[in-house]
Amino acid sequence: MAETTTTKETEVVGVVGGGQMGSGIAQVAAVSGFDVWLHDTDPAALDRAVRAVSSSIGRFVSKGKLSRAAGSDAMKRLRCTSNLEDLRDADVIIEAIVESEEVKKTLFSKLDKIAKATTILASNTSSISITRLASGTSRPSQVIGMHFMNPPPLMKLIEIVRGADTSDEVFLKIKDLSERMGKIVVCSQDYPGFIVNRILMPMINEAFHTLYTGVATKEDIDTAMKLGTNHPMGPLELADLIGLDVCLNIMKVLYEGFGDSKYSPCPLLVQYVDAGRLGRKRGIGVYSYESSAAEKPK
Ligand code: NAI
Repeated sequence: MAETTTTKETEVVGVVGGGQMGSGIAQVAAVSGFDVWLHDTDPAALDRAVRAVSSSIGRFVSKGKLSRAAGSDAMKRLRCTSNLEDLRDADVIIEAIVESEEVKKTLFSKLDKIAKATTILASNTSSISITRLASGTSRPSQVIGMHFMNPPPLMKLIEIVRGADTSDEVFLKIKDLSERMGKIVVCSQDYPGFIVNRILMPMINEAFHTLYTGVATKEDIDTAMKLGTNHPMGPLELADLIGLDVCLNIMKVLYEGFGDSKYSPCPLLVQYVDAGRLGRKRGIGVYSYESSAAEKPK
């Protein structure tokens, strides 16, 4: 993880949503030297987020990748709040709440009223149109996609997504911010799924079809893709890591956005989500996990 001191325009980063992505983004920002406000409507999610950040930082320290002092300074820079208005002084606000256009749009219009006129509103959405999220604000040129990969402290990539009205200046500021967080950026235009999920999610969906139609067991599907294509994780294990609800929502966005039946979500994926089998975060998805933090699927 990057361990730097910030010197430029962005000093305060707001993060909205303290789930698996928001907590990781808050951690990356705090370790990179930014003051961070993390907001979630659910106080229990904030408690979980602080525990997750603290134990992840502890692992970086014990592996010698971060000094103990830097880890402790990062924890001091992280403040949590269930009051959205506490983010009013943030220079950049990164939203990482549920993957629902309606819910995100409501949040963006609230943030537009709360935030300073110069604040950039960024979304960690996996697939939803940045242009449409921006349309509910009075600052569409300052709205942008900043798509971290899971888990944010370990994954190097940020996919920056430019909405129809995102200005060059805002794009360059977010590119600079991403690099100061130690990340490598790619830029995507604003089409459903952007780059990563346009390619990844149909593969995961196809893995569900392969399981659904009885072609192979879940273990053989994952082993085939790991050893046959040199992927570090199989598609079904990866779906459990991402969250099956997140995968389903992205498939719906691709299906609606392109109007092509090849993006239709697999019935088995839909059924698992209906059953609450959302993946590692719930202890059960395609695989069962002894605890949500378990590494090995059963
Ligand atoms: P999650 O379910 O772990 O966390 C979402 C959090 O948002 C919850 O703590 C919930 O209480 C909070 N929340 C919901 N509505 C809220 C609101 N109106 N205001 C404040 N907080 C609210 O979800 P996760 O996996 O962290 O995903 C968040 C976003 O990141 C989604 O847009 C998802 O598509 C995107 N994403 C997810 C990745 C993944 O692998 N899970 C990877 C990259 C992006």
